[in-house]
Amino acid sequence: MLKWLFGQKTDGASGGNGGGGNGATPKKPAPVVLNLTPETVVDAVLEQMSTTPDPRMRQIQESAVRHLHAFAREVNLTPGEWLQGIEFMTKVGKICTPERQEFILLSDTVGLSALVNLMHDKTALEIATDTSLLGPFFRENPPRYPPGGQICKDISKGELAIYGRVMDAKGNPLAGAEVGIWQTASDGLYDIQSMPNGEMDARGVFTTDAGGNYLLRTVMPLDYSIPMDGPVGAMVRMQKRHGMRPAHLHFLISAPGQRELVTALYMSDSNYLATDTVFGSSSVDLVADPITNDPNCPLKGIPAVRYDFKLSRMSEADMKGGRVGSDPGAILKN
Ligand SMILES: [Fe+2]
Repeated sequence: MLKWLFGQKTDGASGGNGGGGNGATPKKPAPVVLNLTPETVVDAVLEQMSTTPDPRMRQIQESAVRHLHAFAREVNLTPGEWLQGIEFMTKVGKICTPERQEFILLSDTVGLSALVNLMHDKTALEIATDTSLLGPFFRENPPRYPPGGQICKDISKGELAIYGRVMDAKGNPLAGAEVGIWQTASDGLYDIQSMPNGEMDARGVFTTDAGGNYLLRTVMPLDYSIPMDGPVGAMVRMQKRHGMRPAHLHFLISAPGQRELVTALYMSDSNYLATDTVFGSSSVDLVADPITNDPNCPLKGIPAVRYDFKLSRMSEADMKGGRVGSDPGAILKN
């Protein structure tokens, strides 16, 4: 029997519902109610949720409720504060569109995305290139380019070459690997922010050659602010944080039989490497230093970054674990 379920006392001396104690009127059974305290309400909830058929879903939901209750008890959450939280989450939901995913941004700014990513890294079968956040600006089906193609429409402020190899964990070249890249354009914005008609810019996919080589042209990425015009931006301002991200290039690299690599290269001269608002710049191995007149770069006359990516073999868990972050449009279609 559950400890929080019990009836009221039924003896006459207790003043219970039966009335009188002289036996003249039959006693009415006392109602069984949830008798809750701040400490026991969580058990009552978990008991009701215990019928969830899927064991993994049950585990996740139970843990979430347990921690949510512990949080509320720890801070002694008031009704007004609880409502303020509901209002905040409502605003986060309302501002989401196929192009804007405020919940991913919220997850990023409280470090949840980085945590999930780092835990996911530890499950790789082999040591591969460190990962970084997919972020809220990823889009499916970017344009494909031939080797050396320029992904940006505006190159008036100069170009940047990126080249290198995609390899498996043992260093064998991966031919036919897909190298997806997306970044801020020369105005410091992602196309999602600056092109409301759905046009794509500063993103593309390249395919490695027989030697696993890739080569592309882009522009120098810029430090940028996360979107500050929504509820997450208001939260960041309220916390007196700068809201900035260090300049970076996003990559999504895939090859048959290999774990998909979601990563980013961060520019070494950024002032925000150590204080990234979304905690993406978590590895010194992902810091890139563009070189002028790189003699090894196939593209001459522009700064270049050489970076070799290593992929781990794909595990069975990888097939169902999903990737950190997602295309906002894909979320809203479901
Ligand atoms: Fe980004």
